[in-house]
Amino acid sequence: MKFAFTGIIAMLSMLSITVCAASTDKAAESPKPAVMVEVKKVVTTTLKAMPEKIVVATADAPVTPEAVAATAVGADGFKIPEQKKKSTAPAIPALGSDKSPIDVAMSAAKGTLKNPYSYTTMNPDLVEAGKKKYMGVSCNGCHGGNGGGGMCPPLSNETWVYGADDDTLFRLIALGSDELMKQGYTRKGRENVVGPMPAQGALVKTEDDMWRIIYFIRGNFRGDAKNIKW
Ligand code: HEC
Repeated sequence: MKFAFTGIIAMLSMLSITVCAASTDKAAESPKPAVMVEVKKVVTTTLKAMPEKIVVATADAPVTPEAVAATAVGADGFKIPEQKKKSTAPAIPALGSDKSPIDVAMSAAKGTLKNPYSYTTMNPDLVEAGKKKYMGVSCNGCHGGNGGGGMCPPLSNETWVYGADDDTLFRLIALGSDELMKQGYTRKGRENVVGPMPAQGALVKTEDDMWRIIYFIRGNFRGDAKNIKW
């Protein structure tokens, strides 16, 4: 018994020596030691047995066959990440300014910021354009691709941490939660995840971009329509 165990250890160390030697010394490649051939065989069979497609499920989307097809990563490479995909929405004339969202949030009087894009009839192309911006500055890294939450709170439910209005959301996103509270805004709600939100105003280039991102958040609301307060 003891002998067999020592034998295994000896074989294992021989194996690792052979593997190391093969990787450091190119000249030692031929003739291939039997153990290397065996290792290669095992690796090849394991790779062959692996599923051809690795499916990454997203937390906030129901798993439908279409969703599976869209998220599948082929064995031969990667799909283009959402961030890099071009928006298919037609160009929509800008109603917001090209000023920096930080400047706008720091200079506007409290309660006065309002989305220039009307929510009365939601325009799906503008929602799509807003989503493109949202993904482009990686809000999805914290909030999930459809704003359904990830490591950070969902943006699609009825709980609004500092308030649901445009003015509050604009400032929260541009300045971050600490600066928002310095401006006199207070916490009103609580999500499962509580933590400071870092300022995103330097990433979102213009006031117009910010309004489009907020438009996407509006279009993506999954709560009761009765509770729309914007
Ligand atoms: C590093 C992670 C992180 C990134 C990136 C991030 N956020 Fe947040 N966000 C948070 C956290 C954490 C909170 C909760 C703040 C709190 O509880 O005080 C939050 C809160 C929010 C809220 C309020 C949600 C509510 O329920 O009231 C909105 C809206 C929001 N973020 C939008 C955005 C947008 C748009 C972007 C991209 C421009 C973005 N966030 C990028 C972490 C992040």
